[in-house]
Amino acid sequence: MKERLNQIHDEALQEIDNINSMDGLQVVRNTYLSKKSELMQFMGKMKDLKNEERAAFGQFINSIKNEISEKLEHKRKALEEAKLKEKLEKEVVDFTLPSFSYQKGSKHPFQIIVDQVSEIFIGMGYDIAEGPEVELDFFNFELLNVPKDHPARDMQDSFYIDETHLMRSQTSPVQAHVMLKAEGKGPIKIISPGKVYRRDDDATHSHQFGQIEGLVIDKNINMGNLLSTLELFAKSMFGEKREVRMRSSYFPFTEPSVEADISCFECGGKGCKLCKGTGWIEILGAGMVHPHVLEMCGFDTKEYQGFAFGVGIERVAMLKYGIDHIRKFYTNDKRFLTQFVKE
Ligand code: PHE
Repeated sequence: MKERLNQIHDEALQEIDNINSMDGLQVVRNTYLSKKSELMQFMGKMKDLKNEERAAFGQFINSIKNEISEKLEHKRKALEEAKLKEKLEKEVVDFTLPSFSYQKGSKHPFQIIVDQVSEIFIGMGYDIAEGPEVELDFFNFELLNVPKDHPARDMQDSFYIDETHLMRSQTSPVQAHVMLKAEGKGPIKIISPGKVYRRDDDATHSHQFGQIEGLVIDKNINMGNLLSTLELFAKSMFGEKREVRMRSSYFPFTEPSVEADISCFECGGKGCKLCKGTGWIEILGAGMVHPHVLEMCGFDTKEYQGFAFGVGIERVAMLKYGIDHIRKFYTNDKRFLTQFVKE
């Protein structure tokens, strides 16, 4: 028996040496270590042995079994390592290969203007306020001094959701939201960029466009504060040499109301195609907040005054970059959009 066991031992080690795959390993393991294997069958024969022989024989079988197990385990690790090594060698990365080139995206000109204007006003201590695009008629019109039958509604009576809701036609309702929230206590200094909707369609107007509203409420605010604020804005946006002039105008929620022009940055004021020979370019609407609006929004007009302005985002961008049609902002043409990469 012992002789046969030694033979099995030698055969097993020989076979283990020759294994070169995981499958092969499993076959050898079955041959020598499964319950039905010859080696394990020997275990069953132990009961036939004499007591004094049994222990030594058991130990002998076990030592063979352990040795085969260990060798198999050793082989398994070696095979795994070899497999990993082969995989790594196959997957060599050549770091000198040229990489893919990704085209970098760029900010939309609309957003460039929003960011620049925001930066200018944040620098002057303004906060950014937001308001809803689906707005109550009450905020879009009534609180801005435009009652139901007011003719000033005509120009902006556009996209209604139902009797009381519409797509806001201007960012001015944010004025009312901010004032009501302040509960009669100043100061307020906000700008509010956002989308507005009107029935409008030509080269410089679209049914949806952007506005930036500005509102300042405090004690002793006057037209001089408005003018100097607009001058600082014009110079930061269109160059140090810009001047601002105010022409009287009409908005229901400001009194007095003005339209502000900047001196033409193309010709410096001499008159050219851009400024239609006038030397001035209209840039925004503004005025002192109407006392009735202040009162409706909870402010004591003996104590507080304010100014407001509203500027068209696309209008500023079109002037600044010489863009000739408003629709270019919305058609996502890469040839157009990639021209603003460097800003
Ligand atoms: N909301 C006005 C418009 O859309 C602009 C404006 C804002 C005028 C604030 C005065 C004060 O035409």
